[in-house]
Amino acid sequence: SRHSKKIADLASDTKDVHDKSRRITSDFGVKQTNTDDWLKVASEDKTGPMLLEDPFAREKIHRFDHERIPERVVHARGAGAFGKFTLFESASDVSFAGVLTDTSRETPVFVRFSTVLGSRGSADTVRDVRGFAIKFYTDEGNWDIVGNNIPVFFIQDAMKFPDVIHAGKPEPHNEVPQAQTAHNNFWDFQYMHPEATHMFMWTQSDRAIPRSYRMMQGFGVNTFTLINNKGERHFVKFIFTPELGVHSLVWDEALKLAGQDPDFHRKDLWEAIENDGYPKWKFGIQVIPESKENDFEFDILDATKVWPEELVPIRYIGQLELNCNPDEYFAQTEQIAFCTSHVVPGIGFSDDPLLQGRNFSYFDTQLSRLGINWQELPINRPVCPVLNHNRDGAMRHTITKGTVNYWPNRYEAVPPTSVKEGGYVDYPKKIAGFKARMRSKKFREHVNQAQLFYNSLSPPEKAHVQAALGFELDHCDDPVVYKRLCDRLTEIDLSLAQNVAELVGGDVPQQAKRENHGKRAKGLSQMDYMPSEP
Ligand code: HEM
Repeated sequence: SRHSKKIADLASDTKDVHDKSRRITSDFGVKQTNTDDWLKVASEDKTGPMLLEDPFAREKIHRFDHERIPERVVHARGAGAFGKFTLFESASDVSFAGVLTDTSRETPVFVRFSTVLGSRGSADTVRDVRGFAIKFYTDEGNWDIVGNNIPVFFIQDAMKFPDVIHAGKPEPHNEVPQAQTAHNNFWDFQYMHPEATHMFMWTQSDRAIPRSYRMMQGFGVNTFTLINNKGERHFVKFIFTPELGVHSLVWDEALKLAGQDPDFHRKDLWEAIENDGYPKWKFGIQVIPESKENDFEFDILDATKVWPEELVPIRYIGQLELNCNPDEYFAQTEQIAFCTSHVVPGIGFSDDPLLQGRNFSYFDTQLSRLGINWQELPINRPVCPVLNHNRDGAMRHTITKGTVNYWPNRYEAVPPTSVKEGGYVDYPKKIAGFKARMRSKKFREHVNQAQLFYNSLSPPEKAHVQAALGFELDHCDDPVVYKRLCDRLTEIDLSLAQNVAELVGGDVPQQAKRENHGKRAKGLSQMDYMPSEP
């Protein structure tokens, strides 16, 4: 696509190493006659000591010494591509965002898929959540949906994020295991946090071993808001559903591939795009009017809950297509940086306490990974004009001309954008309450949807969940961990708990801690997924 290519070129600041007319230069632009021999004191038949004077040799080594930047603290391993976002139906009844209302637009995007727990060099096919992060380069600024392939999350409050990640990553004493959740600390955390129950059921399902990045759903997970021209606000969840259907590996395939071809997903995405098999997703929204916020038995701002499709149908209004591979992995896929706090006019936040914390965390982490001027990197730059009085800092590229760097100023130069001109307006929400560290009542119910999810699976999917829990808990050598977890499973389904207990040893529970009423919901099983053309 023309648009995607434009972004790709713009972002790569291209230097073509296949161009034979080009010559090697230093970074300060001087053509080099020798790139292989350090400047030395030489006598006729002997090489003498090397000279610190040699700027070319020193520059080459300096540059190499500093090639690595910190990997992402989570989601370190990833693969990405450029593409476009189009709308086939305007959502103008709920939002005035150009990207959600203008059906004639093609919005360029970059999407980065990732695993969560492994380091940059870990294998692709491990059991893990997959990141699904999209940067929309819209005419009104960059909009980032930083989502996952699972619609719920382990925790409800962002303050718990360091704990859940510490418990999932390799253990602190020996840094084992790499890139997997089959260890004491991960399962200890899951037991100690009943709120994680719903999400761990998803991670033990086939969703956590996708067949391909092209065959996963993407979920914004958190609850955002949309504002329309009448000033009305709706709560919204964002969903991407792959045209190829949702498919997974089976566990034995995943294990074998992790050894045989650790780049399996990365290569699959690359090759599909190279061969013009552009992956596509339908883009959908689930929308709840502000007046109905409290009409559900769960809190719609709780990221450990889905909005069942029976209650809130998905309205598919657009399409995401990936059609252009990056030119260089580091400059684009590694240096792209997402922030949940980046929304455009017509889209806003909710009081979802996980989202609120994320809105702080992402910008903060970019400071240590890329530095304060990270938004000037070509891959992170908006395609619309950027101008303000922020300045300086390490690695500043932008040159602002003029003699004033503050507002207001005597020239009346560069004022903020008015509402009429399309400036961002914060929704004037009335707030009242006590300042307290608390969770509301609905936030304290954790098992209903874990059970709903398990009940909704087909028999083979249930068998896979049981086998997965058996494998994972069998790797925990602390009996407290696996016994307690089997006990937790009796709150979901007694036969599940019994089968897992038999696989891992320990007492087989005889009583359900909570009755299973057999309630099911649409869209949770992979088996009832039917791809359909918009
Ligand atoms: C990275 C998703 C919760 C902090 C990421 C990435 C994704 C993601 C997809 C990788 C982005 C990329 O490809 O560059 C999610 C989802 C969450 C969640 C769906 C729950 C709904 C949180 C929370 C925090 C957090 C609660 C912190 C309070 C981070 C950080 C990174 C990250 C620090 C690394 C970013 C970077 O270095 O560029 N997350 N995350 N996340 N996330 Fe989250």
